Amino acid sequence: MGTGEPRAADAAVGRLRAAAAVPGSRILGVGAHRPARVVGNAEVAGPIDSSDEWIRRRSGIAARRFAAPDETVVGMAAAASVKALAQAGIAPSSVDTVLLASMSHREQSPPAAPRIAHLMGAESAGAMDVGAACAGFCHALAAADALIRSGSSKYVVVVGSERMSDIVDPTDRGTAFLFGDGAGAVVVGPAAEPGIGPVVWGSEGGRQEAIAHSSPWPAVGTTATAVPPTLRMDGPAVFRWAVATVPKTAQAALDAAGLTAGDLAAFVPHQANLRIIDAAAAALRLPPHVVVARDIVHAGNTSAASIPLAVEELLARGAVPRGGLALLVGFGAGLAHAAQVVALP
Ligand code: UT7
Repeated sequence: MGTGEPRAADAAVGRLRAAAAVPGSRILGVGAHRPARVVGNAEVAGPIDSSDEWIRRRSGIAARRFAAPDETVVGMAAAASVKALAQAGIAPSSVDTVLLASMSHREQSPPAAPRIAHLMGAESAGAMDVGAACAGFCHALAAADALIRSGSSKYVVVVGSERMSDIVDPTDRGTAFLFGDGAGAVVVGPAAEPGIGPVVWGSEGGRQEAIAHSSPWPAVGTTATAVPPTLRMDGPAVFRWAVATVPKTAQAALDAAGLTAGDLAAFVPHQANLRIIDAAAAALRLPPHVVVARDIVHAGNTSAASIPLAVEELLARGAVPRGGLALLVGFGAGLAHAAQVVALP
């Protein structure tokens, strides 16, 4: 306008109030839902002409869980969240926000998170699904931390929940033995000191075909033989990418938090393959006192649920001290990856 006088709109912007920030956020409780049905290697090996010996040697997996028909992505997520809330001592009605990380919820709309919020008793919570495949939990946890520190949310439930058995083809040699079902949740709330470090993340969308569905959803129903899409993976390419990327991202998250490997109590990478977990732990030169999560041996690869499930397992068997620091790193489809250091509840 050139008059030098502030416009009315500018004056209004000047009055816009941000939420009152808090110094930090922290995980207050963790909960898990593991389906009852344990599926050994013998059962998945048959249709792919494999063996218990090969599956253990190439992936470290001895068994995984498959969900029963009534154990849905939504139901398992709600069950894990209720346990996390109980451990945190937070009433469901106090939850402002529910974030679901999942790649196996097979409905485009409505999103799953509002129904999960409803089932856990968080009737007035904002709720949304976060799509970052196996890296989804670390992405959603970073969002929760930012929401809380900005003062926009007070208590956030972050839950990873997967029925990978719905999206994996039992006759596909590259994936049928790897994946399992389950849900893990954490409750995050405000803290006087930071309990969640800065997230370090990235993606390589140009290589998205490395892990992708066999066909897009629009193909379903277009021909008489169309079948629902299932997950396909260029295993060796993803393996090489993961072994190179996971230690770099994890180290960058340690650096961003101002810590070193010696400060850690636990290393909890996405449980994709025991060989990737062990290679990443070796590359990070973790001191012997750092406990490395190996929940994959009995849970398989549960995608977005694997990190909270592995954290719950370590705490439940007393393998790590409560309040200790854990380095989390998620990675997977989209070649998305994300890592942060957290204080354990
Ligand atoms: O969670 C998202 C991120 N996902 C990952 O990080 C997974 C990354 N990839 C992997 O974990 C591994 O690539 C797999 C576990 C999927 C596969 O292990 P691999 O050591 O990469 O096996 P490969 O595909 O290189 O195959 C090695 C051999 C081949 O035989 P030759 O060519 O050496 O004679 C395959 O034909 O093993 C054979 N093979 C199998 N044998 C028995 C491949 N799949 C199977 C099988 N059972 N299921």
